[in-house]
Amino acid sequence: MSHRPGGGELAYGRFFLPGPTEVRPEVLEAQARPVIAHRGSAMKVLMAGLQPGLGRLFGTDRPVYVSTSSATGLMEAAVTNLSRRRILCLVCGAFSGRFHDIAALTGRPADRLEVEWGSPNLPDRVAEKLAEAPGRYDLVTVVHSETSTGVLNPVARLAEVVRGHDDLLVAVDGVSSVAGTEVRFDEWGLDFMLTGSQKALALPPGLAFGVASGRALERAAEVSPRSYYFDLLDFERRARQHQTPNTPALTLFYALARQLQRIDAEGLEARLERHAAMARRAHAWTGALATRTGLDFEVLAPEGYRSPTVTAVRLPERLVGPDLVAALRRHGWVIGSGYGKLAPSTIRIGHMGDHTPAELEELLGTLDRVLQEELSR
Ligand SMILES: Cc1ncc(COP(=O)(O)O)c(C=O)c1O
Repeated sequence: MSHRPGGGELAYGRFFLPGPTEVRPEVLEAQARPVIAHRGSAMKVLMAGLQPGLGRLFGTDRPVYVSTSSATGLMEAAVTNLSRRRILCLVCGAFSGRFHDIAALTGRPADRLEVEWGSPNLPDRVAEKLAEAPGRYDLVTVVHSETSTGVLNPVARLAEVVRGHDDLLVAVDGVSSVAGTEVRFDEWGLDFMLTGSQKALALPPGLAFGVASGRALERAAEVSPRSYYFDLLDFERRARQHQTPNTPALTLFYALARQLQRIDAEGLEARLERHAAMARRAHAWTGALATRTGLDFEVLAPEGYRSPTVTAVRLPERLVGPDLVAALRRHGWVIGSGYGKLAPSTIRIGHMGDHTPAELEELLGTLDRVLQEELSR
């Protein structure tokens, strides 16, 4: 198939990583256009054209920033722009923990409110924690889809808890959620949300996207020192002029424009339903596998809190995650190993971006055969 990485060869395999994910050839090819001046009028036209499509993905009427960085850059923007007192980091896996790591390294006071990897951050626990010390925190960070565990946090309900407190903002990592699951930035009352190009947007890596509320911008104006490259006030000012703060990775913007047209053509609702259908299939496959083998295969995330873009499957003790991933790779398919401390005991299937249920079916069929081989050893 021509959209396989490696130009149809299986050298890189079919790519079901939980990011980066496969990019369709027409999107890759859109980058092969001449470079233009980033302060010129053609760039402004290009940038203005991106806004409606990006706004729909975030569920916002506010400007969406396009940052030439990976998503971590905008995580750092949240930490360095939005707190002048103390941050409460809701942690349920590796990526949500990164907000706290950034706070530690950039010298911002922060605490972790942690649940076991594989569990969601729940509103009641957050409400309790905030009630223990009213006014202690001025920013809560949370991940929407925790890519390391496949958990989808109840962001709308968590934001409702935050909105019950004066002078408290909420920043959301939507890296593996935006464009793969419903996001309503304005309606949910979020203050900052970010994502990256290489996940459910199915673009090459290298861009990040963010939205800030009016409250967030007021806060940023009070915070000093902030950050030079990741200054939200500069992003906002430039976005309103259909510009970027600095020289952007321009050719990726061409790919973005093409991909937003493709997303529009499919329809956002249909895109989200395709993701939900792939997730349901991955869950059903895991359940059927457990029944058929009598072994302990299970979806790591509890029902009701499962990400539509990534499924982490807990393996029975006799299987080793990296061995299974390596065996599948020999059959030409790439999936994710478990992340960090979950590496030996889980595998992760990234069903996001432009993948289809038919492609997922092919992957699961191959995985069935590989599992049979591994289990009969
Ligand atoms: C949920 C989440 N947050 C943050 C990141 C970091 O993104 P990046 O590598 O683009 O900086 C990732 C990457 O996998 C992620 O999945």
